[in-house]
Amino acid sequence: MRKRVIIGLLVAVVLGLAGFGALAWRPAIARVETPAPSSFAPALVARGQALAGAGYCASCHTAKGGEPFAGGYAMETQFGTIYSTNITPDPKTGIGAWSPQAFRRAMHEGVRRDGAHLLPAFPYNHFTKLTDDDVDALYAYMMTRPAIEAPSRRNGIPFPLNIRALQAGWKLLFFRPGRFEADATRSADWNRGAYLAQGVSHCGACHTPRNLLGAEKRGQAYAGAPIDRWFAPPLNRANPSPAPWDQAELTAYLRTGVSRYHGVAAGPMAPVVHDGVSQLPDADIRALAVYFAEQGGATSRDGELEAALRRAAVANRLNVGRQSDPSARLYTAACASCHYNGQGGPAPLRPDLALNSAVNLDDPTNLLRVILHGVAAKEGAPGVVMPAFGHFSDAEIARLAAYLRATRTDKAAWPNLEKKVAAIREEEKVTP
Ligand code: HEC
Ligand code: HEC
Ligand code: HEC
Repeated sequence: MRKRVIIGLLVAVVLGLAGFGALAWRPAIARVETPAPSSFAPALVARGQALAGAGYCASCHTAKGGEPFAGGYAMETQFGTIYSTNITPDPKTGIGAWSPQAFRRAMHEGVRRDGAHLLPAFPYNHFTKLTDDDVDALYAYMMTRPAIEAPSRRNGIPFPLNIRALQAGWKLLFFRPGRFEADATRSADWNRGAYLAQGVSHCGACHTPRNLLGAEKRGQAYAGAPIDRWFAPPLNRANPSPAPWDQAELTAYLRTGVSRYHGVAAGPMAPVVHDGVSQLPDADIRALAVYFAEQGGATSRDGELEAALRRAAVANRLNVGRQSDPSARLYTAACASCHYNGQGGPAPLRPDLALNSAVNLDDPTNLLRVILHGVAAKEGAPGVVMPAFGHFSDAEIARLAAYLRATRTDKAAWPNLEKKVAAIREEEKVTP
């Protein structure tokens, strides 16, 4: 009797494995001769170039100091370090032997030419939304880049997570393949913006929180998430800035990295703008701005900007004249020479900290990081610099952050600030 049960179980396991194997299995797609660059129409290549910019392919596929697109860029994940691969047209170590069909399958389904499943660190869950035409344009662009011989690096993912067939299970749970479907009740601009945001630019890959298995949580699109030791603020109605992200602010931010009322694209958002979406034509930037203005509810927040500017102006007067509060004195000495309000509202290029999301987020990380490191010249606005205050003590930086939180917002105080500063220094070795 016992034996029968065990055999029964074994049969079930074997059948299950066989079933899973069948589910996980993908055929290899035959190697092809690397197509000649001259076989692609220049207009197609140019379109592919803009899309590759908007999809930050180079940021992820170029190692520090390495050749463009030759792979080896390290991505830290909770499961281990993952290295991007060589996507230059080198036939041996890159994708030179890939047919357009093999490239489409990789982009739309996350499957390699040899049939192995790709890891979701490659954002194929977004690229699946791209039209065939746009994927073909990307193919044309990649196939016309210089071929670089650079073998891929072994991932640091531990066994058994490194078994690629297991990715089939992840896909079954979390991956919905399929092209973007337009919403007929929305404008053409909104749909174009949604197509770019959800597809090639995968804004949700950073701005949407993930579950324990690393998948973006359904129903929480753009609700804000930690990413690369920063925090990507919510872009939905939970965005904490008292100034709405309207179409004009979003357009300026995505085009130049600077918005008058909100601040600059620093940290991981800097390359998204400067090496990424800023390469898109104006109409596409406008479309992204239309889509995100709607996600954040800017259109239904009339009058909130004026009210926020008035409150910010009042807070600014705290730092004029003699001050008895030592925190206010520290702020006035260190920051107020640049971060003050003139008569006509926030000075251009010096963000008003009452409106800045770093001061308003539940997580103080971005603010502490900006104070510690400043904003590098190539990330911020041209001609001005936010200096680094890494030479301040942990206690001073914590005090500045607590002071801004208390005087510039109506939100709850941040706990354990001094410990957080110390932890960030430890992560990055920024010594006082
Ligand atoms: C967020 C980082 C990231 C971005 C952005 C990104 N990739 Fe990748 N890509 C990866 C990683 C990591 C892998 C390897 C995944 C693996 O080993 O399973 C990969 C793999 C690939 C592959 C499979 C190649 C192979 O031999 O394994 C192709 C093709 C590819 N990417 C094309 C692109 C294109 C085109 C873009 C821009 C539209 C792009 N990628 C943007 C991270 C990225
Ligand atoms: C690689 C991760 C990453 C990607 C991809 C990304 N973002 Fe961001 N984003 C961030 C981080 C981190 C910040 C915070 C930057 C700062 O504080 O200066 C940010 C900030 C922003 C802000 C400012 C929010 C605020 O309240 O201050 C906007 C707007 C924004 N991103 C829009 C977008 C859009 C639109 C896309 C897609 C086109 C996108 N992001 C893609 C990481 C990312
Ligand atoms: C010399 C002028 C100067 C001083 C002093 C200064 N800042 Fe800034 N700050 C800037 C400029 C300019 C920017 C806009 C970013 C850029 O383009 O570099 C900025 C940006 C910021 C931002 C927004 C970053 C973002 O991602 O949007 C914060 C927060 C900030 N500063 C906080 C402070 C604090 C706190 C102090 C005092 C410890 C301080 N700053 C001192 C010039 C200054």
